[in-house]
Amino acid sequence: MGLGFQEVKNVNKPANDIAFRQYISAINDLWQPQSAKDTDTAHRVSELMSEWLRSTTPDTAWVRNLKAEKSSGFPLYTHPDHGFIQMNHYHAGYRTNTPHDHGPYWVVYGVYEGEAEIPVYAYDATSNTLRVDRIDRLKGGDTVAYLPGDIHSTRVPTPEPALVLRFLSTDLSQVPRRRFKPEQISEDPVSSPERT
Ligand SMILES: [Fe+2]
Repeated sequence: MGLGFQEVKNVNKPANDIAFRQYISAINDLWQPQSAKDTDTAHRVSELMSEWLRSTTPDTAWVRNLKAEKSSGFPLYTHPDHGFIQMNHYHAGYRTNTPHDHGPYWVVYGVYEGEAEIPVYAYDATSNTLRVDRIDRLKGGDTVAYLPGDIHSTRVPTPEPALVLRFLSTDLSQVPRRRFKPEQISEDPVSSPERT
């Protein structure tokens, strides 16, 4: 098939997950050499992720495993040629992280269950501070694309956990990224942040 499912550590058995297979296959079909930096692709993947999440049932293996293991994050799938990665996260109630971007690459965030708030910031180079430009509020099946250079953070606004999905257009481990301290936020202070 060329989709590389056989190369995935198979703890979550994505090969048996029809909704997930359709999601990855649709992305594989549209992917072009510059897609990891292309904003149109980001928005299309956001739509596809929403369709995937809305057609995923609670008894699906990765949903059950994520809840059972409370994993802070693991790759459900990495494409062997294109390099995009589907990351799945369990975010505990009231969890926050610090503002950051993804360098020249885009990312899609989604929520399967629970709630997440994602502030998006404007950076003022003169004062070296951030101002909250908008706050995206995501619930089950909601997704948003964050484009190259978009500064954002995530937080769970409830005591209940959230299952948060991140589609990375490339492996970010070698990508220079901007990271900011909470004290740089001139509005909307975030308490007890942790770096992720
Ligand atoms: Fe991010």
